[in-house]
Amino acid sequence: MAEDLSIIQGTKEKQYQALLPQVKALIKGEPDFIANLANIGAALKEQFGWLWVGFYLVKNEELVLGPFQGPVACTRIKRGRGVCGTAWAKGVTLIVPDVEQFPGHIACSSLSKSEIVVPLINKGAVVGVFDIDSVLLNDFDETDKNS
Ligand code: SME
Repeated sequence: MAEDLSIIQGTKEKQYQALLPQVKALIKGEPDFIANLANIGAALKEQFGWLWVGFYLVKNEELVLGPFQGPVACTRIKRGRGVCGTAWAKGVTLIVPDVEQFPGHIACSSLSKSEIVVPLINKGAVVGVFDIDSVLLNDFDETDKNS
């Protein structure tokens, strides 16, 4: 079945408002976790045009690269390392306005200037992280965090 995303212009809030119901419809009724992560990442990349949108999943005490869109990325990240490993260890969303100012940031692409990492929590445990990179400095805020 062909799926078309309706891309809209406007404020970030308006874009999320239009996008989120479409994403929910896209994954509704599909039980496969990886397929759903793939479509969620693709939808956000298509709407916002960010550099890199993707998931790392916790496997054997490491984050392992999952579905993503964008330039090739590092495959494994240890707990507490980089922005992703820190978001995993702390279980909180991290917004990094300037990646060069984040101690231990892992530079998968030199084009990445700012980043947001949201932990995926299931039954109280972090099972992965959702990572988004932008070519712009300071591209993420509370709207992204809460949406
Ligand atoms: N910058 C991340 C690594 C993953 S890439 O950005 C895709 C980090 O510091 O954990």
